[in-house]
This record gives sequence, structure tokens and C-alpha cells, in this order.
Amino acid sequence: MNDFPRTIVLGANGQVGSSLIRQLGESGVGITRKDADITNKAALFRVLDSAGPVSALINAAAYTDVDGAERERERAFAVNAHAPAWAAAWAAEHNIPFAHFSTEYVFPDGGERYWLEGDATAPLNAYGESKRAGELAVHEANQEGVIIRTSWVYSEQSGNFVRKVLELAKSQQSLTVVSDQVGRPTYAPDLAIPALQIAHDAALRSKIHGGVLHLASGEPVSKYDFARAIVDTGVSEGVLSRAIPITEITTDQLSSSVRRPLRCVLDISLAQSLGLQTKPWRESLVAVVRTASQ
Ligand SMILES: NC(=O)c1ccc[n+]([C@@H]2O[C@H](COP(=O)([O-])OP(=O)(O)OC[C@H]3O[C@@H](n4cnc5c(N)ncnc54)[C@H](OP(=O)(O)O)[C@@H]3O)[C@@H](O)[C@H]2O)c1
Repeated sequence: MNDFPRTIVLGANGQVGSSLIRQLGESGVGITRKDADITNKAALFRVLDSAGPVSALINAAAYTDVDGAERERERAFAVNAHAPAWAAAWAAEHNIPFAHFSTEYVFPDGGERYWLEGDATAPLNAYGESKRAGELAVHEANQEGVIIRTSWVYSEQSGNFVRKVLELAKSQQSLTVVSDQVGRPTYAPDLAIPALQIAHDAALRSKIHGGVLHLASGEPVSKYDFARAIVDTGVSEGVLSRAIPITEITTDQLSSSVRRPLRCVLDISLAQSLGLQTKPWRESLVAVVRTASQ
């Protein structure tokens, strides 16, 4: 049963975008790359203008390849900063709410504390810089726009950490995973209802001071422990025939030259106080692992 009014979703084929569209059902107006390359302002506005009457616009489109963003910096900024600003401006001009997704990668290493919405951002890599530029550009174009920062998104779609670990666990004898990167894994479909509530409830938005909200699932975990949980769930769900050994390493032992923040955990107490809950990731993990066998 879908209670939300007609809503445009940019990035409708992505993990979060497709979850929003599924939740919206017939009220969803999904825009994919096929409809418009959002880095082409005229094409973006043409497709938005032809959407008919809508009550909100949500941007779930993004350049999400963290390594690729170092090589394709301009492209990352075009998708993650310029296009969101145009979409935010379009929403302001049409007097409808605008919500935009961002990432914990706008922050550096968090140490023992969790990052609050109002903390100063200082990204460590080009992807994070492009997303921070997007946050600033969205708020400049549309002061009512809401930025939803999330982390470690996974879903039934291929390419995310959960699916990659399962594939590697099937094809390799052992895995090596970092234990000093800690975050909150978030099941994309769990973001859909809270994001739509934010987009469609003005009273709720008025409680999001500064226009930024952290929304991510349950308990923080290291990549190593998350990989361990994925493999164990794979075995218990009959997707993997055995629990392959996983070796724990630190980020500085990796060959990648792209810096990723260590212990970078979003504080989600504001979302929780507003009643915007997501399920614990362990529950959703079972559902995703099960689909990997199909
Ligand atoms: N994935 C994560 O772990 C993670 C973590 C923290 C925050 N986030 C944020 O959460 C949001 C959603 O992420 P996600 O995981 O759902 O991303 P995703 O699965 O990579 O989806 C992004 C979508 O954007 C579309 N897109 C990219 N460039 C485009 C362009 N030039 N024109 C039109 N469409 C374009 C992609 O289209 P194609 O399918 O055609 O490429 C894709 O469908 C993003 O803002 C991301 O930064 C993600």
C-alpha cells in the first residue's frame, strides 16, 4: 500500500533510486540515464518539465565509483555537484520539497566519536570532495532542500560490498579485508520510507535544522566483521558451501592510493529521535544473501 503523493526520483535504476520507486509504486516518476544525462542541464530540465504535476523531487543519482572519481574528477563533480544543484533549483522554482543523498565520505577519520550532522566536513578523496561540493551547491540553490547522508549502501543489485564478498567467497580460497574501516551498513530499501517521509512531511523537515540528516542502519561494524557476517550468513542460508578464511589487514596495507576514512561512523541519533528508523543490518543481510542464490 503506497501512501505517498507523486514524486520524481532521479537515479531510478540505482540501489536507492529503485528502492524509492518500488516504495512509491504508481506515484513514482523514475528518471534514469536513458531519460536524461543529468549533467546536461537542458536535458535534465526537459525531462523534469515533462513529468506532470509532482509533490516532491528526490535525487538518488550519483557518481559512486570512489576509485574512478580520482581519474574522472570532472565527471564526478558534474554528476555529484552541478546536476544536484540544478535539480534543487528546479524544485525551488516549482515550490516542491527536494531531498538529496550524500555520504559519510564527506568526513575524514572519525576516531572514537561518531559524526554529527553539524560537524565540519573534510573529505579525504575526490568522491567525498564532489559529494561535499554537491551538499553546498544544493543548499545554495535551495535553502529548503534536505541532504540525507548515508553509508555503506547495499541491496540485491550487483556491485556492492555484500554481493562482492559473496562472489569472491565462491571463487577464491581466502579473503583479505580491512578491519580499521568502520561504518554503518545500510540496506537501500530501508532508506525508502524515511526518505519519502522527509520529502512529504513539512513538520518533519522543520525539525532537521541545517537541512542535513544522517540516516543509516543499526550498529557500526568493521569491514572485516561485516565480511565475516556476510560469509557466515551465506553458509547458514546455503548460498556458500563453506566459510572461507578471512585475513584481517589495515588500510595502509592496501595497494590502493585512494584514501578512505577509517572509523567513519554517522551519528544517527537525530533520525532516531524523529522516529526515522531503519532495520538492523543483520536482518536485511539475510534477505540479500538469499537472493544471491537465485
Ligand atoms: N553506494 C554506497 O555505498 C553509498 C554510500 C553512502 C552514500 N551513498 C549515496 O547514496 C546515493 C545513492 O547511491 P546508490 O548506491 O543507490 O548509487 P548507485 O546504485 O550507483 O546509483 C546511482 C544512479 O545514478 C545514475 N547516474 C549516474 N550518473 C548519471 C548521469 N550522468 N545521468 C543520469 N543518471 C546517472 C546511475 O545510472 P546508471 O545505472 O545508468 O549508471 C545509477 O542508476 C548517492 O547519492 C550516493 O552518493 C551511497
